[in-house]
Amino acid sequence: SLGNSTNIFWQECPVGKLERQRLINQKGCVVWITGLSGSGKSTLACSLSRELHTKGKLSYVLDGDNLRHGLNKDLGFKAEDRAENIRRVGEVAKLFADAGLICIASLISPYRKDRDACRAMLPDKNFIEVFMNMPLELCEARDSKGLYKLARAGKINGFTGIDDPYEPPLSCEIEMQQKDGVCPTPADMAAQVVSYLEEKGYLH
Ligand code: PPS
Repeated sequence: SLGNSTNIFWQECPVGKLERQRLINQKGCVVWITGLSGSGKSTLACSLSRELHTKGKLSYVLDGDNLRHGLNKDLGFKAEDRAENIRRVGEVAKLFADAGLICIASLISPYRKDRDACRAMLPDKNFIEVFMNMPLELCEARDSKGLYKLARAGKINGFTGIDDPYEPPLSCEIEMQQKDGVCPTPADMAAQVVSYLEEKGYLH
C-alpha cells in the first residue's frame, strides 16, 4: 500500500534483487535482534557482522542506539515513538535485504506487534528474529551505560524492564539463553546465527 500518498508511482529498476544476490553470492535477509538494554544485542550484532565479513559475506548493522543519533533523532521512548522507530528501521532493513545484504537490526523493540509488523514487511521468511533471553537481573547488574541505576532512581521514566514493558516473542527463529547460569560468548552466539543462515541457504 502507498499509505497516505496520492499520485505516487512505483518505479521498477531493471537490475533486480536476484541479479544483485547472484553477484555477491548470498541471499538478503534481516536478522532482527530483540531484548532488554544490556542483554548483549549490539555485542552479538558486531560479532555476527565480523564473522560474516570473515566468511566473505556482506552485512550491515542497524543499531537502535546509533540510529537515534540521526534517522530517528526526533523520536523518544513513548510507545508510539518506539513503534515509529521500529517501523522506520524495519523499512530500512527491508531495503538492505533487497540490496542482497544480511541486515542485522539490533533494537530493544519491546512490542510484539511492532516486530511482527516488520516480519510482515519481509517476504519469504527473510526475517530471522533472535531473542536475547537474558534475565533482567543480569542486564541490570551489567548496567554498562548506567541507565538502570538512573531508572531505579526515578531519573529516567519509562525504562524498558523497569517501568516500561518488554513483550518476549511467542515464537522466534533463534533464542539466546544462559546455560547453568553462564551466558554464551558473543562468538558462540554469532556461530549459532551463522549456522542457521548457512542451513537456510542465505550464505550459499
Ligand atoms: S526501542 O525500544 O527499540 O525503540 O529502543 P532502541 O532504539 O533500541 O534504543 C534503546 C537504547 O536507548 C537507550 N535508552 C532507553 N532504552 C529503553 N528505555 C528507555 N526509556 C531508554 N532511554 C534511553 C538505551 O541506551 C538503549 O540502548 P541498548 O543498546 O538497548 O542498551
